[in-house]
Amino acid sequence: MSNQTAQVHLDGQIYELPIVESTTGERAIDIRSLLRLSGHTTYDSGFMNTASCESGITYLDGNNGILRYRGYDIEDLAENCVFIEVAYLLINGELPDHEELEKFKYDMIRYALIHEDMIHFFDHFPPNASPMSILSTMTGSLHDFYPEMDLEEDPYGGMTTTTARLLSKIRTIAAFSYKKSMGLPLVYPRADLNYCSNFLNMMFDRPNMPYKIEPLMVSALNKLLILHADHEQNCSTSTVRLVGSAGVRLYPSISAGISALWGPLHGGANVAVIRMLELIYADDCDFDKYIGMAKDPDNPYRLTGFGHRVYKTYDPRAKIIKAATHDILSQLNISDPLLDIAQELEYRVQKDDYFISRNLYPNVDFYSGIIYRAMGIPTNMFTVMFALGRLPGWIAHWQEMHMDKESSRIGRPRQVYNGIVKRPFVPVGQRG
Ligand code: CMC
Repeated sequence: MSNQTAQVHLDGQIYELPIVESTTGERAIDIRSLLRLSGHTTYDSGFMNTASCESGITYLDGNNGILRYRGYDIEDLAENCVFIEVAYLLINGELPDHEELEKFKYDMIRYALIHEDMIHFFDHFPPNASPMSILSTMTGSLHDFYPEMDLEEDPYGGMTTTTARLLSKIRTIAAFSYKKSMGLPLVYPRADLNYCSNFLNMMFDRPNMPYKIEPLMVSALNKLLILHADHEQNCSTSTVRLVGSAGVRLYPSISAGISALWGPLHGGANVAVIRMLELIYADDCDFDKYIGMAKDPDNPYRLTGFGHRVYKTYDPRAKIIKAATHDILSQLNISDPLLDIAQELEYRVQKDDYFISRNLYPNVDFYSGIIYRAMGIPTNMFTVMFALGRLPGWIAHWQEMHMDKESSRIGRPRQVYNGIVKRPFVPVGQRG
């Protein structure tokens, strides 16, 4: 709390409101007492300018394109760490030492299987079921299969193990759901493979076509998961915190986060980007048509993969993914016309006043789909990949929310009612 205050003048009265200062110097007006003192609430649809909690997990400066997890620059983490190290960092606040990392890796292997009864679930989804609905349903049901890990008495005591269990099992569920959707035999996790190699192997190994694990793919997957691991109070993370604030345990709270992520304006954007690039390609690369539609105020169409609620400059994650996309495609000699389309679109958009004046730059989803395609991951699994990456962030926020008395209060926004004030009741036969 800083010594400064803000004054609100209402109906001839002055209300002094405290200012809260972040460790990086940003200031927020603490309006919590305003309702009690003045009878006024505040209006902020879409939470454009409302801090819902204090958090020490991720720092994001959208004007300068800075993203840090627990104080470490995203660029350093993406370059030097494996995903599970970053997951450990997000949950525990510190990077693991050698021994802690080995134990965490061991837990990943130990908990990689899912209860065999859960495998029958896959058979009862319709053949075209979305992998996101499968993931969300099965994650919620982990609460029933592993209740001992989701106990009321132990909300955050054993979070490192809980994290390993959840990360490992959800990775298995994701790979199994892909195999089931293809009608292929399941490939079980192996004890000799690390987190990312194991995932790729479960996805692509077949009895008659053994999968060759390509280190470049493993490194790219690590990078992608790290870049998605947290992004402070975004839609799905706020959902996890809000659901958790009602006393809901971790697994169902994560399941709610998965559902929120599904939306095309959030994690589902990586699927929508590929669909958009395919459409432009099939439409004889008529860039002007799509850019024109996006700029037309009467057309709700938007160029997916551009713009961000918080970043008003190039998304630092997009920069890293763009470079990694080039590395993968050139080193593995893969050519993808969609990369050319993406580059040309970005080039045109960056010269266009509409996008310049609104600070619309490529976001994390713009290039990620092209790497996933190069890995052989089908488009309908892209948002599942985002969810795998975002898991440690969700868990860290759920844990932080429970540990902080103030932000663990049940979430309950106010509203400005704009409906009919009151009217007399009319029985059914007399309604005109
Ligand atoms: N294409 C065309 N115009 C856009 C776009 C876009 N992608 N994004 C924003 N605008 C315009 C918008 O129409 C508005 O114009 P005007 O001022 O004339 O009304 C202006 O830019 C400001 O937009 P906004 O709706 O206030 O921005 P927002 O902060 O509410 O929305 C967003 C952010 C990400 C939902 C939006 O930029 C968007 O829909 N982008 C496309 C979907 C997308 O790529 N989503 C992934 C986000 S990154 C992954 C994640 O973190 O979840």
